[in-house]
Amino acid sequence: MKIIPQIDLKKLSFPLPIYQAITIGEAISRDGEHFSVFVGLNKEMVAQLKALSLDENDIDLQKNTRDRNRFGKKSYEDWYKKNRTLFALVHKNTNALAALVWLGPEPLPENEGNWHTAAWRSYIPFRGKGLMKDFTKFAMNIYEEKISNVKFWIAVKKENAGSIGLAKILGFQESDETFNKNIDRLIIVVKNLELV
Ligand SMILES: CC(C)(COP(=O)(O)OP(=O)(O)OC[C@H]1O[C@@H](n2cnc3c(N)ncnc32)[C@H](O)[C@@H]1OP(=O)(O)O)[C@@H](O)C(=O)NCCC(=O)NCCS
Repeated sequence: MKIIPQIDLKKLSFPLPIYQAITIGEAISRDGEHFSVFVGLNKEMVAQLKALSLDENDIDLQKNTRDRNRFGKKSYEDWYKKNRTLFALVHKNTNALAALVWLGPEPLPENEGNWHTAAWRSYIPFRGKGLMKDFTKFAMNIYEEKISNVKFWIAVKKENAGSIGLAKILGFQESDETFNKNIDRLIIVVKNLELV
């Protein structure tokens, strides 16, 4: 996917106030579909996120994430207090939320440094369409510009091949130190995106 940035980094400060959404890019997928890239979710996007998170037909989302509870049942406003910065990919023709990335401070147990966590979702019918590599890179690069010395880690279920595959493309590597301490989740880390 090709993303054309439309962004003045100096004007941005993360995390944004809740429900503020700013366009930071335009994108065209390999299928020729057009998308807008936002930092922040407005109320309409949050309503979509809630509905998508409750969607029982999205087996992969239900199996691999806690979003049903996190966004479907609990309060988004409470969750937002965790200082997450969200990036949204919105399909231009339909206004549908196609994909989401969020990043935010989260200590990596037993590790020093400015650790932040990453999470990513693509939603049906946009999943598996090659949107995520460039969208996640774009979001993480912007975040890295704003937060000095940031290091990223994610915890992902061992059987979640799609997410592990994406993480490896982004430069994440399995962490020896933390791997065995978590039974069903693989912890993988990237020190900074220059590795990518
Ligand atoms: C994980 C997820 C975001 C990947 O998104 P996607 O729409 O499949 O991403 P893309 O089509 O852009 O593929 C990106 C890369 O991921 C990798 N990938 C995707 N599915 C894969 C799979 N089943 N096995 C291995 N690698 C896979 C590919 O290497 C692909 O790179 P390529 O385009 O060069 O082939 C998506 O599957 C998803 O939202 N799943 C449900 C929620 C979830 O599990 N989130 C992560 C929780 S940790």
